[in-house]
Amino acid sequence: MELLKQRILETGVVVSDQVLKLDAILNHQVDPVLMMEMGKEFARLYGEEKPDKVLTVESSGIPIALTTALHLGVPMVFARRKKTLTMDQDTYSERVPSFTKGIVTDIMVSSHLLKKGERVLLIDDFIANGDAARGLIRIIEKAGAELIGVGIVVEKMFQSGGNSLRERGIRVDSLARIASLSNGQIQFD
Ligand code: G4P
Ligand code: NA
Ligand code: NA
Repeated sequence: MELLKQRILETGVVVSDQVLKLDAILNHQVDPVLMMEMGKEFARLYGEEKPDKVLTVESSGIPIALTTALHLGVPMVFARRKKTLTMDQDTYSERVPSFTKGIVTDIMVSSHLLKKGERVLLIDDFIANGDAARGLIRIIEKAGAELIGVGIVVEKMFQSGGNSLRERGIRVDSLARIASLSNGQIQFD
């Protein structure tokens, strides 16, 4: 998606060979117009698959999952990171390591929000090693729901997450694919 690539080049900060900071458009400040355009693109890509629901994980997946769900006309569910007092007791939960934070977190979805047979589109901001996506996919499987695909804003091709899902036969669409962040340079695929 050209608009996204342009915004990445304008605002992205290469933190290391592995990490791209996109705090001006995606991970801290959010560009609403860009979010709407990207949601429209995911809805165009997955509309024919007739998803019943969009699933993501808090926090940075929420804006893009919301605009995608809005354009598809379906609800959006975000997995929560830890149990709160008001959270239902009946949840599907998975333990997920975080590449950027170097910690392990528990993500969870109330079982009444993910039903057997529902067609689920998974959306997230970044894919690196794919741990977050795999955790969400295990939750979808536990619920007996059906994964129709994975939509990612920024896929880092030099990490294995996206391709490891494709190798399992899962459809993965990313709006910007980054081949390398070496020497402080953003190279698209
Ligand atoms: P993985 O699930 O694909 O292995 O990714 P990883 O564990 O690396 O993701 C951990 C967190 O780091 C995720 O956010 C993910 O979106 C983010 N992330 C991964 N690579 C990059 C990167 O190059 N740049 C930026 N800005 N983020 C990256 P999270 O832990 O879910 O945190 P939150 O932002 O949603 O609160
Ligand atoms: Na993130
Ligand atoms: Na995320």
